[in-house]
Amino acid sequence: MSLPTTMRALQQTSLRGPQDMHLVTDAAVPKPGPGEVLIRVSAAGVNFADVSKAHGTFADGPRPPYLAGFEAAGEVVARGEGVTGTDVGTHVVGVGDGAFAEYVVLAAAAAMPVPAGWTEQQALGLVVNWPTALATLRHLGGVTAGQSVLIQAAAGATGQAAVTLATHLGATVLATASPSKHDVVRALGADHVLDSRGGDLAGEVLRLTDGAGVDVVLESAGGAAFAASLAAAKRVTGRVVVYGLAGGDASVTNHDLVYRHQVHLVGFNLGTFIQAAPHLFGEVMRELCALVAAGVITPGRPTSYDLADGPKVLADLESRATVGKTALLP
Ligand SMILES: NC(=O)c1ccc[n+]([C@@H]2O[C@H](COP(=O)([O-])OP(=O)(O)OC[C@H]3O[C@@H](n4cnc5c(N)ncnc54)[C@H](OP(=O)(O)O)[C@@H]3O)[C@@H](O)[C@H]2O)c1
Repeated sequence: MSLPTTMRALQQTSLRGPQDMHLVTDAAVPKPGPGEVLIRVSAAGVNFADVSKAHGTFADGPRPPYLAGFEAAGEVVARGEGVTGTDVGTHVVGVGDGAFAEYVVLAAAAAMPVPAGWTEQQALGLVVNWPTALATLRHLGGVTAGQSVLIQAAAGATGQAAVTLATHLGATVLATASPSKHDVVRALGADHVLDSRGGDLAGEVLRLTDGAGVDVVLESAGGAAFAASLAAAKRVTGRVVVYGLAGGDASVTNHDLVYRHQVHLVGFNLGTFIQAAPHLFGEVMRELCALVAAGVITPGRPTSYDLADGPKVLADLESRATVGKTALLP
């Protein structure tokens, strides 16, 4: 099959934010190296990390100019040296830098086949949001049936996955979201939905848990919400899994942990999880595949936009205007 040499893609030209992300029409189509596959992108997933990268706040993130995006689904059109398992023509979803484009290179070993009967677009989230939700809830949070969990940003892409999984695990789910998104979170099965934009969040959680606090908090809101997450966790045994900082940095001191928040504080980063604990990541992905087969995880329904709308979609994500997963179609 003959491939073009240039393609449409979104290029980030500064670290001032998505406003400096521009459509280019002459980006070079990348070539797959050893162990890599080239896919023709049919849908690229938008993630909060794309916003962080555009602002230069993502640790060791790319330096501009760079092709933006890192999650894509599509058909394998070429294979690099040594790739045996993933044939040309296979439909996969995976991660690879420069995914907001017509073509992107993915690591073959980490490219997941699109589940049978699903479109490529519907598979977005399976390699980013769902493993993050499952690993933070179960492997790091240790959530079991009957426990209570507070999920911040519950109407978001990762948050919706977490609410679905926590409900499936038999936990009592307390969730936060902007008021306009509460119905979405309730429909996923959350027991209590609280306002993420104001009010006494920790006080509300303590009231709903008879003063005890929750067993596990999934904390991705950052900023002022971070202190509320610490105060909402059960003393002595409560675990706060920190995996995002959408609202900015927040700090906790050793004094806080000794005298105010006697909780377990756990950090999570999916990239590090994959590299440092591949056996655990493998377990997570096997469990997710089983949940897909069992119909617990159903085809995603991302809100999709043309590739050219990427800068606006990222700005919406940053300003809390999105609900659930968003996708860009090249
Ligand atoms: N550590 C990892 O490996 C990893 C992997 C995946 C995702 N994450 C993190 O998980 C979080 C969710 O990611 P996502 O891509 O699924 O995004 P998302 O949840 O779809 O969107 C972010 C949501 O965060 C909430 N939020 C709360 N305070 C905010 C603030 N000050 N500014 C902006 N948003 C705020 C908003 O929901 P409300 O308006 O409803 O409050 C917003 O819609 C992000 O923090 C992301 O960095 C981390």
